[in-house]
Amino acid sequence: MKKENTENITTLLKENRLFHPPIAFKKAAHISGFSTLQKLKKTGQKNPELFWAQQAKNLKWIKPFKKTLVWNPPFAQWFLGGKINVSENCLDRHLTTFRKNKAAILWEGEPGDTRTLTYAELHREVCRFANVLKSLGISKGDRVSIYLPMIPELPIAMLACARIGATHSVIFGGFSSEALKERNVDAQAKLLITADGGYRKGQIVPLKINADSAVTGSPSIEKVVVVRRTGESVPMVSGRDFWWHDLMKSASPHCPPEPLDSEHPLFILYTSGSTGKPKGVLHTTAGYLTQAAWTTKHIFDLKEEDTYWCTADIGWVTGHTYIVYGPLANGVTTVMYEGAPLYPQPDRFWELVEKYKVNIFYTAPTAIRTFVKFGDEWPNKHDLSSLRLLGTVGEPINPQAWLWYHKVIGGSRCPIVDTWWQTETGAIMISPLPGATPLKPGSGTLSLPGIQAEVVDKTGKPVASGQGGYLVIQKPWPAMLRTIYGDSERFKKQYWSQIPGIYFTGDGARKDKDGYFWIMGRIDDVIKVSGHRLGTAEIESALVSHPKVAEAAVVGRPDEITGEGIVAFVTLQGGVQPEPALSEILREHVSKTIGSVARPAEIRFTDTLPKTRSGKIMRRLLRELATSHQVKGDVTTLEDFSVLTKLQTSYEEEEG
Ligand code: WTA
Repeated sequence: MKKENTENITTLLKENRLFHPPIAFKKAAHISGFSTLQKLKKTGQKNPELFWAQQAKNLKWIKPFKKTLVWNPPFAQWFLGGKINVSENCLDRHLTTFRKNKAAILWEGEPGDTRTLTYAELHREVCRFANVLKSLGISKGDRVSIYLPMIPELPIAMLACARIGATHSVIFGGFSSEALKERNVDAQAKLLITADGGYRKGQIVPLKINADSAVTGSPSIEKVVVVRRTGESVPMVSGRDFWWHDLMKSASPHCPPEPLDSEHPLFILYTSGSTGKPKGVLHTTAGYLTQAAWTTKHIFDLKEEDTYWCTADIGWVTGHTYIVYGPLANGVTTVMYEGAPLYPQPDRFWELVEKYKVNIFYTAPTAIRTFVKFGDEWPNKHDLSSLRLLGTVGEPINPQAWLWYHKVIGGSRCPIVDTWWQTETGAIMISPLPGATPLKPGSGTLSLPGIQAEVVDKTGKPVASGQGGYLVIQKPWPAMLRTIYGDSERFKKQYWSQIPGIYFTGDGARKDKDGYFWIMGRIDDVIKVSGHRLGTAEIESALVSHPKVAEAAVVGRPDEITGEGIVAFVTLQGGVQPEPALSEILREHVSKTIGSVARPAEIRFTDTLPKTRSGKIMRRLLRELATSHQVKGDVTTLEDFSVLTKLQTSYEEEEG
């Protein structure tokens, strides 16, 4: 491995540096050496179906599948004819082995309380809650909304749904009641599982209060189960609301796993797209689990004795696949932390790494950049020598942050897996294999065996190396989304129409001469703030729902820490004055409507928005303005130049 020498190398050169797998790591790895990987990739390329069928056979099947893939573009069905249960694969399978009393989850609450669940204990809790679900009238195919903090009841509830064949829809605890309502209604959920509250940066998030106002507008919700977390007193509606602990008291710990078809819907997860309301991305059973299990084992190179920690929130897809389903299917010990990374101090993560002797650590670039800002003294206070592998996900990582992560956290000895994927892909698609792939800081390196990723032009033709284009996936993969819940037309249009017949990711990318992928960010109007994916359309409609706002256009501008920051250009209703206080009111309004993740960093009032002659808002110009405070790009289609001049002048005035 090359030595660090960051001072006298230009950024471009840095990108060309290779970090080879350390020899000892490579020797012990599941996939060892680049030539082994190349062989596997070749097999996967020649016959992806065969490759994935082999991986699927490592799962426990109640009835073996007959057909690997039926592909009616854009609808895929994997492992047909089989019967399987995800919760049985994540739990029961381990109980006949020494893993029975192995820790499945090491949980730490933000206030410092802890809970350990062995595989046997987790199994028992899941079975009991599965019986609770049944007693509340939930059966196979019903949808269950889950709005919980990062507490063990969250994976228990998910696995209990999976056990009886109910489809869960987890809603991030940071979302507002409006957002929750919208998701309840879209999924037609029958049951909502929530908590009295959750801890976040020492404050209590009033989940039950939010849930109550959401349920008022969600007619499909019949009952609400409430976990006691904070102990605050909360209103309970008699006949509708039930305490988790009351229901669990009498629930039997015996609940056989329901034999489910491979294509049975496992979960819906709402995600932002470029237009309209959030999309309910639908994932099914066997294909999802196959890719989740294979990628977790090989990309994180899991060993029986590892302690693995993914810092994501289970409210996002990373938590679904790489806290719950992937790790548990592999019988690993996983750390789960309730709170914020910087609370009570910027070394909370490192304290936990030291305490639990974490071996594999998977986090987001935005967190890494925050840690860089706080300085090396925080990680340096702790013994991080247990770490042997690091990972990142969610957005491009700049080489500088990568190098810091590698050196300060990884002690220059840990490979970093930069994993590219999406809510829609269900599992990792592009990533190094840590014992095989030479790393380049900032690149996700190569697509996985059995995954056909490419960078193409508008017509679907691969572009020359070094050139930017659209990142696409050319063949179906097991964990792919099956549709958008209740809206197959939107599914087709959103992902399969850009380049007909090929899955379009919405990302721009280039491949270098070694075939390594470099993600250039989103091409559509999706903003990534601290790794959270937000649609500009949603934020705009939240702004416009305020009585004083006439029109709004939202764009992202680069932000050193959060990746992107939200800038909202707002025109007000006639007669309303753009006073500074209104800025704060509008930001608060967005926060209330969608959740604090979507609060704009900046509101800029303008008389009109720059539009094309056909009336389309020119977001490209606004993006340029928000970023560099001037516009150099092509403005020939602009209807009214004075709008632009005014906006530019307003920036110039501020800057004096
Ligand atoms: C971005 C998160 C660069 C990308 C799992 C993608 C990344 C979107 C990476 C999906 C990465 C994710 N490098 N960009 N390693 N991983 N992205 O649905 O733009 O929240 O399309 O899924 O995140 O975001 P989502």
